[in-house]
Amino acid sequence: MKTIAVIFYSVTGTTKSIAHAICEGVQSVEGVSVNLLRINGKDIINGRYNSQVVLESISRADAVIFGSPTYMGSVSAQFKAFADASSEIWSIGGWTNKIAAGFTVGSCYAGDQEVTMQYFQTLANQHGMLWAGIDMRGIKRDNIPNLMGAQSGVIAKSEGTEIHQEDLITAQYLGRRVAHLLIG
Ligand SMILES: Cc1cc2nc3c(=O)[nH]c(=O)nc-3n(C[C@H](O)[C@H](O)[C@H](O)COP(=O)(O)O)c2cc1C
Repeated sequence: MKTIAVIFYSVTGTTKSIAHAICEGVQSVEGVSVNLLRINGKDIINGRYNSQVVLESISRADAVIFGSPTYMGSVSAQFKAFADASSEIWSIGGWTNKIAAGFTVGSCYAGDQEVTMQYFQTLANQHGMLWAGIDMRGIKRDNIPNLMGAQSGVIAKSEGTEIHQEDLITAQYLGRRVAHLLIG
């Protein structure tokens, strides 16, 4: 059995909705399980993220999907604290060669969500991970609506605390895609 870790931060629940949709996509593929992990602000003490349980769960997974709302044009500070805490794992190559993917939510159409995705890709590169994007060649290919048209991962636009159905479908697709990459 292969395992995918989905690690995310969310306050008002929209990024959480995308995380759940990704999990549904993974669970639709036989032979792959998903471990949903949430970054908890209480685990950040004096600016340092310190949940070894979460970091070790990711180290055991075969693929990792990173998620954060876009805050001021990048990942949230809480996600960055988690990423910084992975530096000890980086030093021993603990996440090297795992498949990586990402998702983010912003309330604006052009709210710099791509910068958040680029940060996830940089984090994956730092760890020697292998990035999987959306693989979308036509707007309606495989009925993936991909509302915002991003190729790097799921970029969703929130409407208050709501998420568009199209973004949830795109998120399910990303979960299925990463799961299929694992089982070949
Ligand atoms: C501090 C802060 C900064 C934000 N910065 C951006 C931004 O740069 N671009 C954007 O599109 N939305 C921005 N937003 C909106 C959030 O990304 C949006 O509300 C998102 O849906 C929140 O995710 P959550 O429901 O998972 O907490 C910001 C919100 C907050 C609270």
